[in-house]
Amino acid sequence: MSFPAIRMRRMRRDAFSRALMREHTLLPSDLIMVAFVIEGEGRAEPVPSMPGVSRLSIDGLLGLAGECVALGIPALALFPSPGQGVKSEDAREAWNPDGLMQRATRALKAQYPELGLIGDVALDPYTTHGQDGLVDASGYVMNEPTVEALIRMSLAQAEAGMDFVAPSDMMDGRIGAIRDALEKAGHIHTRILAYSAKYASSFYGPFRDAVGSAGNLGKGGKHTYQMDVANADEALREVELDIAEGADAVMVKPGLPYLDVLRRVKDAFGMPTFVYQVSGEYAMLKAAAQNGWLDEQAVVLETLTAFKRAGADAILTYYAVDAARWLRGG
Ligand code: PBG
Repeated sequence: MSFPAIRMRRMRRDAFSRALMREHTLLPSDLIMVAFVIEGEGRAEPVPSMPGVSRLSIDGLLGLAGECVALGIPALALFPSPGQGVKSEDAREAWNPDGLMQRATRALKAQYPELGLIGDVALDPYTTHGQDGLVDASGYVMNEPTVEALIRMSLAQAEAGMDFVAPSDMMDGRIGAIRDALEKAGHIHTRILAYSAKYASSFYGPFRDAVGSAGNLGKGGKHTYQMDVANADEALREVELDIAEGADAVMVKPGLPYLDVLRRVKDAFGMPTFVYQVSGEYAMLKAAAQNGWLDEQAVVLETLTAFKRAGADAILTYYAVDAARWLRGG
């Protein structure tokens, strides 16, 4: 008898049979573009630790939104970089009806009503100390007062027309409290994307530069609310609670180092499960590409496909526009 009895390579021999047995296909409709918004007009401020990414004033954001629509990217995730001037101890600018996020939302919805908008809900861009919540005298982030602030922030965004509010703060009970407040205010269509399994990761460094919270945060970490990177069972408990409290979709963050968590969450709950390829992941890929050490298009599409294989329904990535172009052969 010939050796080997089973030849796995037969199906890999030609492109047609590789295509027929392919289990997952990455599409532009799987992607969510991530953008930073700043005040002003005609401004595009490069983020030094994220080459290729700029903070955009609202007019520039409209241009980016147009690209997303043209490329078949279903949604844009918005993060404010409001500048040091409006930061305060109590983050009140976060729920100013005429604040940056609310104006950006109204402008985007007026011009591109079909493009889904996802608003970050956390206080860090608005606090003088760079924490996601309100702190007591010892610097501890207080849970309930923070949740009250997050409710205000969510209502302000919903009022402006935000499609998804996305609490990224990891306070206990905030999904239920926000859901309740949205229902009471009649915002029955506003979806909640819960950052359920959000880790206290060092891969967020470039993002903190982008929203201008890095300097304020200093050496203070977020370990009293974000999850320990060593844990996975705990992630399932977090996700379970957010689902029970009324989340419409859940998220795992960061992405590539947490594919195991992503798979377990998807298998355990069958919920719409999103993953966030975060700023540090972008920076690593970009730096290697710029040095000529990795083929950017190939490795980026490989990482995004890996997210789908691991169970992601949608992927937040700074590469969304590039990836959609590459997928369309551009
Ligand atoms: C803060 C927030 C962070 C990110 C999204 N929302 C940073 C943090 O928790 O300090 C990180 C995103 C990225 O790194 O791309 N609420």
